[in-house]
Amino acid sequence: MVKINTCVFISGKGTNLKKLILNSLNYNFPIKIKLIVCSNKYADGLKFAKKWSIPYFIFDNKNTLSEKKVLTQLKNKKINIILLAGYMKILSKRFIRSFGKSILNIHPSLLPKFKGLNTFENILKKQEKKTGCTVHFVTEKLDEGNIILKRSFYIDKKDDVKSLKKKTQNLEYNAFSEAIIKLFR
Ligand code: GAR
Repeated sequence: MVKINTCVFISGKGTNLKKLILNSLNYNFPIKIKLIVCSNKYADGLKFAKKWSIPYFIFDNKNTLSEKKVLTQLKNKKINIILLAGYMKILSKRFIRSFGKSILNIHPSLLPKFKGLNTFENILKKQEKKTGCTVHFVTEKLDEGNIILKRSFYIDKKDDVKSLKKKTQNLEYNAFSEAIIKLFR
């Protein structure tokens, strides 16, 4: 099958990236990961780029030259979609406009609830009954943009930040891939 040239942006552990790479190796999965962009040169997740020999670039989103270099690489590698998989920086309007194609993000809450940071702390403070994750298109406004899918679970009285994060991430690993299949297959 003809696969969509994809770039994944990360900042930390890269466990979502790992799942995306593993799925992309499957013939029937519609993306090929041709580039990884990371906001932090010490990020654990870079080990997956090295393991699967995927080119990577360290991106300082506050630096215009760095932004230009990323845009050039995206163009040279004919990237058609960007996946933000635990990318903890905000992309500039200029960047989003210049790329001009789809950017997807995974967020660890049921959007529009709990945008931004400290998601799990805020969910517990508000004593929510349910939580989960959302895959959505990225626009110039933080954690907005059309929702592609959400996956949810019921919160247990015993849940804390650590357990909520674990349960949410376990949902994320399938949700991101399901969203990609929903869009492209
Ligand atoms: C994921 O849980 C993702 O939802 C979250 O960062 C984590 C990255 O984990 N993203 C955001 O909070 C974006 N606002 P990973 O590096 O192990 O994939």
